[in-house]
Amino acid sequence: MNEILHFLTQRSSASRLTEPAPIGEELQAIFAAALRAPDHARLRPWRFLSVSGERRIALGELFREALLLRNPDADQAAQDKAANAPLRAPLVVVVVTRLAEHPKVPYVEQRLSAGCAAHAILLAAEALGYAGIWRTGEVAFDRNLMRMLGLADNEEIAGFVYLGTREGEVRPVPQLAVAGFVTDW
Ligand SMILES: Cc1cc2nc3c(=O)[nH]c(=O)nc-3n(C[C@H](O)[C@H](O)[C@H](O)COP(=O)(O)O)c2cc1C
Repeated sequence: MNEILHFLTQRSSASRLTEPAPIGEELQAIFAAALRAPDHARLRPWRFLSVSGERRIALGELFREALLLRNPDADQAAQDKAANAPLRAPLVVVVVTRLAEHPKVPYVEQRLSAGCAAHAILLAAEALGYAGIWRTGEVAFDRNLMRMLGLADNEEIAGFVYLGTREGEVRPVPQLAVAGFVTDW
């Protein structure tokens, strides 16, 4: 199989991530790949928050605060889980969808474009020898959290892409039969 195609078919998420994460020129290259997401009318309906080092602790505190606003009764364990979430990888990229009113480009297309950008980040990171995983959860849809992060009213979170170096073995990718998903119509 063609090398690039093989790479595409073998992409796999890593739930356990450790140092190092991409930095500097490599991280720039990863974002450059994201900027090639298909994008109707070139609206550029995305931007990215790169959260690393100690800033992940600050992000975790916002996760905790947002959880307490959603559920003031959240117990200590739930709070700690929320606060520790960003520490699961050395780098967290918040993929932000920027929605704009456009006569030909409905919001769904802009959200899809942001999804493509997130995928491109995963692929580019893996191409450079790193690994990642796209995560959401309730916090990703929480308006309070979005405000705390400085998102405008027309912005939302497409996902948190956790990046770093894979810990443990690559899980074998599922062997799906193409025929099960494709119809010659
Ligand atoms: C929009 C979106 C949100 C996701 N949210 C989570 C999540 O919150 N937690 C999680 O463990 N996996 C989440 N996943 C799934 C993982 O990113 C990953 O795709 C899954 O673990 C399967 O692994 P694979 O990508 O290697 O097939 C999400 C995927 C997508 C596309």
